[in-house]
Amino acid sequence: MAKEKTVFVCNACAGEHPKWTGQCQSCGEWNTLHEQIQAATGKDVSRFSGLTPQREITSLHDVKSENVSRIECGISELDRVLGGGLVPGSVVLIGGDPGIGKSTLLLQCASNLVAMLPTLYVSGEESLQQIAMRSERMGLKDTDLGLLTDNNLEQLLATAQSHKPKLLIVDSIQTLYTDQLTSAPGSVAQVRETAARLVRFAKQTDTTVILVGHVTKDGSIAGPRVLEHMVDTVLYFEGERSSSFRLIRAIKNRFGAVNEIGVFAMTDTGLREVTNPSAMFIERYQPDSPGSIILVAREGTRPLLVEVQALVDQSSLGNPRRVSVGLDSSRLAILLAVLNRHAGVSMYDQDVFVNVVGGVKVHEPAADLAVLLAVISSFRDRTIPADLAVFGELGLTGEVRPVQGGLERIREAEKLGFKRIIIPEANKSGSSKAKISVEPVSHLSQVLAKVFND
Ligand code: TYD
Ligand code: MG
Repeated sequence: MAKEKTVFVCNACAGEHPKWTGQCQSCGEWNTLHEQIQAATGKDVSRFSGLTPQREITSLHDVKSENVSRIECGISELDRVLGGGLVPGSVVLIGGDPGIGKSTLLLQCASNLVAMLPTLYVSGEESLQQIAMRSERMGLKDTDLGLLTDNNLEQLLATAQSHKPKLLIVDSIQTLYTDQLTSAPGSVAQVRETAARLVRFAKQTDTTVILVGHVTKDGSIAGPRVLEHMVDTVLYFEGERSSSFRLIRAIKNRFGAVNEIGVFAMTDTGLREVTNPSAMFIERYQPDSPGSIILVAREGTRPLLVEVQALVDQSSLGNPRRVSVGLDSSRLAILLAVLNRHAGVSMYDQDVFVNVVGGVKVHEPAADLAVLLAVISSFRDRTIPADLAVFGELGLTGEVRPVQGGLERIREAEKLGFKRIIIPEANKSGSSKAKISVEPVSHLSQVLAKVFND
């Protein structure tokens, strides 16, 4: 196939250059040029533009919204993050660190679906034997899943056009290349172009396409941000490699809620769904050790019980350490300042370490009360009652502020057998029917009184 004419375009100023250079000649930025297929000039179009027939405009209320039929992939946690299943003709991007389980999940998904719809699994990373070995280990051997190991986009599209799969899985987009560009597979230009062509293929043929994307060191999907704009759904795999828990989070979803999570555990036979994640995250909770408390966090629309641990220790440094894992570090510093100012507990000579157990990341301020209680519990070496759960945001004046989804959080704690829950005063409406003892608070001093009898 003849190479298309390409140009090098600056990411910063969009200036075009016939050759690659380190510095953009137009704006002077370094390392911003990337290769692109030159667009048709459009000269002939403009001459006749006055003659092109006008398009009909449709008013919104005339458009009949068809109920999209979703394809459930038989893995309910995955269906949940997808917003109820795969939408035909949509493109899903799954990102995550190497070895976290992307290929494993997609192989499981593909072998579940293959009986219902023709599926083609394209791997540019593993050989057929490796895939076969893996599926054997996972007990998925007896499926007639179509496999292809190819890195060339043109060949891949030609094969897909003739075999007409309804689901096309590409593992991974970084190994794919098109003949039309000279840059190496995995480069920004290649990733962008191959993904754009696959998106077009998906829309034209109504094929569902799942792309695997690698994640760079700083945590974004390698390749341009534009990859995330092009696809319909972006899912991220999260989790510590050392623990078996894996979370899938929807970052963008044109067909469902974002920030929904699916929880899995990696076993020796592949990924297993965890339908009751709260129970899993607090499994090893040891209530009689100081510095530990149960927080009712919320991920997407789902409440999640996690254990927050703190360790406060005499510091030998002039500048004591504040370390938090799974929580916002600057938030910890703010909370310690509030604690000093409004409750008179000062930790200026103490190192403070806080951790959310199980590799979960809690990014919501609803964790404030739990963090502070864990810190004080460790500082004073006093345990927190085992049947107590807590959530709530703390303001800078020491007031306890409401958080979203209060009622669901209360129910989740009740479901898991907790007897007491401390919540923000403004979250108490509707909680009177709960069997769990709900204890609303509106100021930090009330919280300390309830837990430590201050
Ligand atoms: P993989 O799906 O290959 O990761 P990715 O495609 O995201 O790079 O996952 C590989 C890891 O999962 C590897 O470290 C081994 C582990 N694993 C299991 O523990 N059990 C299994 O059944 C499988 C298939 C993999
Ligand atoms: Mg892989």
